Amino acid sequence: MSHENSSTKSIIFVCLGNICRSPIAEGVAKRYVKAKNLDIRIDSAGTGDWHIAEAPCENSIKVANQHGINIAEQRARQVTQHDLEKFDIVVGLDSKNITSLKQLGRSDAILLGDFGYEGEDVPDPYFFDGFEGFDKVYEMIDICVRNLIDEKCMH
Ligand code: 4NP
Repeated sequence: MSHENSSTKSIIFVCLGNICRSPIAEGVAKRYVKAKNLDIRIDSAGTGDWHIAEAPCENSIKVANQHGINIAEQRARQVTQHDLEKFDIVVGLDSKNITSLKQLGRSDAILLGDFGYEGEDVPDPYFFDGFEGFDKVYEMIDICVRNLIDEKCMH
């Protein structure tokens, strides 16, 4: 397995359901990579299996759209052992995701909030009341994803 180094080529963002947070991270990262003309493969997945094959949640689609990113075609999937062996960088959206990823054997999984939000968890939108809170989720993800790519992939 080739872990993060100067020739990093792939990043996977992992949350719990792969329907709210990591789809936004995938969308933001793909746009940033394209804008910067970087050769980095971007994907996302969930640690849980409840929402496999579902589209992202309505409010994530909405907030991404407000920022000019279409994530509506993404479909949820569960992270696999193959992912954990294959991706150069594995990023958890909160500390529970990091615990799960470590239990699955990826000891170098990194926390998205460590790249601009002082290690804060990206809050789990499953418990939000409607759209409220999604702006903050988007902002955290947007800032941290771009910082992460700058720090880990630009040499
Ligand atoms: P996500 O949000 O991890 O950001 O996709 C959640 C989606 C579903 C559940 C929890 C969080 N759930 O418990 O089903």
